[in-house]
Amino acid sequence: MLDHDILIVGGGLTGLRAAVGLCGRFNVGLISKVYPVRSHSIAAQGGINAALTNNPDSRDDSWEKHTFDTIKGSDYLADQDAVEIMCKEAIKIVYEMEHWGCPFSRFPDGTIAQRPFGGAGYPRTCYSSDITGHVLLNTLYERAVAKGVKIYPEWFVTALCIEEGRCHGVVALDIRTGELIPVRAKATFFGTGGYGRVYQHSTNALINTGSGIGMAYKAGAPLKDMEFVQFHPTCLIGTNILMTEACRGEGGYLFNNQGERFMQRYVPTAMELAPRDIVSRCIQTEINEGRGFEHPLGKYIQLDLRHLGSEKIIERLPGIRNICIDFIGIDPIIEPIPIMPCQHYSMGGIDVNERCASDIRGFYAGGECSCVSVHGGNRLGGNSLLETIVFGKLAAQAIAEDLAGGGALPDEKPLLNLKDEVEQKLRRLAIPGRGKPYRIQAELGAVLDEKVGIFRIRGEMEQALQKIAELKEEYRNVGVSSTARYMNFELINALELEYMLEVAHTITLGALLREESRGAHFRTDFKTRNDGDWLKHTIARMGSDGGPVISFKKVVITRYQPMERKY
Ligand code: FUM
Repeated sequence: MLDHDILIVGGGLTGLRAAVGLCGRFNVGLISKVYPVRSHSIAAQGGINAALTNNPDSRDDSWEKHTFDTIKGSDYLADQDAVEIMCKEAIKIVYEMEHWGCPFSRFPDGTIAQRPFGGAGYPRTCYSSDITGHVLLNTLYERAVAKGVKIYPEWFVTALCIEEGRCHGVVALDIRTGELIPVRAKATFFGTGGYGRVYQHSTNALINTGSGIGMAYKAGAPLKDMEFVQFHPTCLIGTNILMTEACRGEGGYLFNNQGERFMQRYVPTAMELAPRDIVSRCIQTEINEGRGFEHPLGKYIQLDLRHLGSEKIIERLPGIRNICIDFIGIDPIIEPIPIMPCQHYSMGGIDVNERCASDIRGFYAGGECSCVSVHGGNRLGGNSLLETIVFGKLAAQAIAEDLAGGGALPDEKPLLNLKDEVEQKLRRLAIPGRGKPYRIQAELGAVLDEKVGIFRIRGEMEQALQKIAELKEEYRNVGVSSTARYMNFELINALELEYMLEVAHTITLGALLREESRGAHFRTDFKTRNDGDWLKHTIARMGSDGGPVISFKKVVITRYQPMERKY
């Protein structure tokens, strides 16, 4: 058994920032299922929001205006106290990352460059070309290494140990050796990322299975607002690779097959820079009503950058250009990019407060796997990188406060029992000739895409629930081809699949119960927002029959009374 004061699970921006904040004062261990610089934070492109007022058009910006935009963008479901904290911290965080060496793009006067993003009243998205996640992650990784954080790379956490309201740690699998190791800690922090891969079409890396969310839920932690799933408007056809919102922030247009800049019809003021939930619905409507283009890989809309000119494209969007050339043979300097919306981000997650503390003693979560909630029904672009670093920092402060008196390591017995359970599960999975995990995952992704997507309706979601129940039944008989424990990614996939099915179940049940449309959750049978009945968070806990039980929690309103969301 390994012991740490604090165990961090996840080597992305949230986990690394938490580790940097705690290392030195505490004995910190960080487990990551990939090398930290391969975490999905690296894929973030467009930028990180902070009201720095560097852009000539954002001189009047302020953290209060950032707060308002975020709350309005959330369709008033975000907890306003938490949003205030995040937007105030944003300015400090961006300068902190700059001082730690992050190479942001600059304006000619040397200040950090800022570009417009959707749903924002001012251009406040700080960026580094179109590789902002990449530079932030490398900066924090270097910082973590310099501070001497003990990192366990390529370790997969198989289960979280919670007993009698106390978190004891995790049981991890060392992917390289195949050894199962209980890791005990006074405090365990999850920065395990989102669940995009429960959908078939997602911008998320293959590692984003939501297993952290699922294992927390299975261990007894409640999940919040799981029905709120973000679909990014512009994903490269056939590949699902993100075509950053910065393409539109820098001035890109969307066209249908009539040559029409159709956003004019839906949101004439904000046009392509309306928030993501709205732009995704507009694109999907154009496609559904026959105004999309045909392609062997699916129907699409054109994202046109050509009028920006080669110089701007090469300077501000070089990664986008390279991806288009490498993956589909299209140079955006000469041709429009074929795009379609697909799953991008998880607004819901492990229910925690603004200190990233859950209601389980010693268990904390932050970043995309958590729901604080700062995004409510719809996250604004550029607020995700922000959330990861702000709440990594704040979680570190909260954990340090909570362990200030020293604190004792929890009892090891529950962890040893959990290790035995995982051991039995691994043996069951290794019986040959059984159902294959990849097939169940493919069916799960397809049913969520089709029936719990951008537009939702009761009958289809009921069918999705039925299908998830069948897949859960099939999962009981799943097996892997090789009995090897080391470097066996099919085995890891099989372990993750159990959690993915739980995550999918909570998303679908939450979406079925929420009989209104708010943010990214759009019901064609309940088309309007209903604050009277639904201005509340959903909380999903695993019930005694193994299915989710939903309860509700109040939304925190401070200064901003809900009003109609107009752009
Ligand atoms: O479009 C993007 O660059 C994504 C940004 C985000 O999800 O915040």
